[in-house]
Amino acid sequence: KNIVILISGGGSNMAAIVRAAQRDDWRRRHDAQVVAVISNRADAGGLAFARSQDIATEVVDHKAFASRELFDEALARAIDAHRPALVVLAGFMRILTPAFVARYAGRLLNIHPSLLPAFPGLHTHQRAIEAGCKFAGATVHQVTSDLDHGPILEQAVVPILAGDSADRLAERVLTQEHLIYPRAIAALLPTLPGASHAS
Ligand code: GRF
Repeated sequence: KNIVILISGGGSNMAAIVRAAQRDDWRRRHDAQVVAVISNRADAGGLAFARSQDIATEVVDHKAFASRELFDEALARAIDAHRPALVVLAGFMRILTPAFVARYAGRLLNIHPSLLPAFPGLHTHQRAIEAGCKFAGATVHQVTSDLDHGPILEQAVVPILAGDSADRLAERVLTQEHLIYPRAIAALLPTLPGASHAS
């Protein structure tokens, strides 16, 4: 089963998933591998890591397309070339069209740095601090056309400590993201259709 990961930046979540898929216990349990990392930005730091792991990389630059629909169509073509059983958004900073989301329904995941349904959208850590929250966290969810609101697969919670800055809190949450994303994917894989040599 092929996994395609979409990034826009550093790709630390992508790297955590790649690392998890390289472990023996994963390989024993799943006939699944990360086959491509695609970014909408040529300067995404994560592309270098993917290349270092001999994973195919591709850039589909959203600025090169006249509309969101045309970009999404080009992105879907790049993704489909790898015949994915699962498409993973990991720090992918584009809002996808309903047509794109419908195309991958049930096999399209995202990670959001808040305890959804609290704090959808951007600047989640600053907002949680300003709201006086005692806890923050991250959510892995199925992507639907309702932004940041699809069925929840995994969550992790961290404390918000006195004097926390958004950056300190982001670091604490990101550590947990790197744990729950591979776990959510491993749990979902056996439920996905797709050629698997095993069985
Ligand atoms: C993380 O906060 C993640 O929750 C959000 O994008 C940020 C960067 O992720 N989706 P990554 O390091 O590029 O995976």
